[in-house]
Amino acid sequence: MRILKNTAGAAALASSILAAGFGVAEAQPTDLKTLAIARGIDVGLALSSSSGGAAVDTVVTRNFTGFVPENATKWGNISSAPGVYSWTGTDGMLDFAQKYGMKMRFHTFVWHQQSSYIANGHTNGVAQPPEANKYTRAEAFTHMRNHIGAVMGHIKGRNGGQMHLISEWDVVNEAAARDSGNDDSQNLYGGMRRSTGNSVNLDSGLSRWTGYTQGETNDFDYIDSAFAIAHRNDTTARLVYNDYDAESLGKKSNTVYNLMAKLKNRKIPVHVLGMQCHWYIGPSNTGSSGAWDPQQIVTNMNRIAALGLDISITELDIRFQNPSDSTKLYQQRQAYETIMSICLNQPRCKKFYVWGLRDGSSWINSRFPGYGNPLLFSGSGSTYTPKPAYYGLIASLQTTSVRAPGARGAVRFTPAGPAYDIRGRQMKSLPAGPSSLVRKTVPAKAAR
Ligand code: XIL
Repeated sequence: MRILKNTAGAAALASSILAAGFGVAEAQPTDLKTLAIARGIDVGLALSSSSGGAAVDTVVTRNFTGFVPENATKWGNISSAPGVYSWTGTDGMLDFAQKYGMKMRFHTFVWHQQSSYIANGHTNGVAQPPEANKYTRAEAFTHMRNHIGAVMGHIKGRNGGQMHLISEWDVVNEAAARDSGNDDSQNLYGGMRRSTGNSVNLDSGLSRWTGYTQGETNDFDYIDSAFAIAHRNDTTARLVYNDYDAESLGKKSNTVYNLMAKLKNRKIPVHVLGMQCHWYIGPSNTGSSGAWDPQQIVTNMNRIAALGLDISITELDIRFQNPSDSTKLYQQRQAYETIMSICLNQPRCKKFYVWGLRDGSSWINSRFPGYGNPLLFSGSGSTYTPKPAYYGLIASLQTTSVRAPGARGAVRFTPAGPAYDIRGRQMKSLPAGPSSLVRKTVPAKAAR
């Protein structure tokens, strides 16, 4: 836990907050949305369903300006086989957006999980030797083109055109390998997820796309193609590359930075880096996953912004080990407050989305056993109780000075933690500007 230095003070403050009762002394539950609008930031959440009922709708529409389907619009939930589409989930989400005047982030096209036939190959669930399962490179690109075209076409064609409801699209999700497992020394695209049989992928996420498209020998051009295809379907769409554990400085964030620089330099239509932000307070059972550092995040956001990209916080949750107590809740509040302040102080950070509404139904409970309580609300049944974390966001929105459009703080590279060059070799210090991290690929005139 790097963010909170004064634990004793934190505990004392936590007790006083608890004594006061959440929400009674501090703010009204409508303040989050009101303040977000005043600050010009889109504050949203992941919705597991578009029909959660009146209580959910009330809490959601009172507090948030946007939402993202937690699962409904993933490839596998839209299409179970090539050419087979089910629009129920997508349409429900679009209806929700329209009914309540909210914008929706689309999540997600190219990913290695929840992608039905992409994950399984030709046989789609029937056991076959892996090689026999595999799509050819040409087939994989065809599926990509067809799927992205079908989805964007459907939304465009629905009710006379509903593209305006989608504020941005996650086009490629999690193409970089996990920090703990990556071996950057292989080639210029070191740190990317590889295909099957490659031991650098320590988590379950081998990249089928890398395998199908021979990404390792074709410069991971499936990523270029995904963005190009999405752009061709709607030239006004804001397109996102989204990943996790790439918020602070380190191997993975350098991989992601290098990828973004290469995409921008080659004029691939990418507009936003999505920072997922699945974080923890205190010790973690998941290796490096979720380690974060405020100063490093500021530095990392600055170098991403200097590429001319916007930044969206896309899936924030901050878990801690069970059981919950007032100290942990207060530390969590501080963490939420800090990341909101970082975002507000970075003019290119325009979206702040949390990954779910209430602790009890967060994905964390099953994904990270023993951990929980990662969100802004607790409660059960029809009760949604704002947690200290919620008031942390309120406090940040209240105290951060109003964002002046176009203004930005000093863009500096603060040496903090080890730096790595594009081949993954540790450097003595962080280079002074982005161009020295990516050889010859950053335009001389960076868009600052
Ligand atoms: C998670 C959902 O929250 C779960 O309900 C589902 O079972 C698995 O996926 N990164 C992402 C999200 O991009 O799509 C993931 O969502 C969480 C990690």
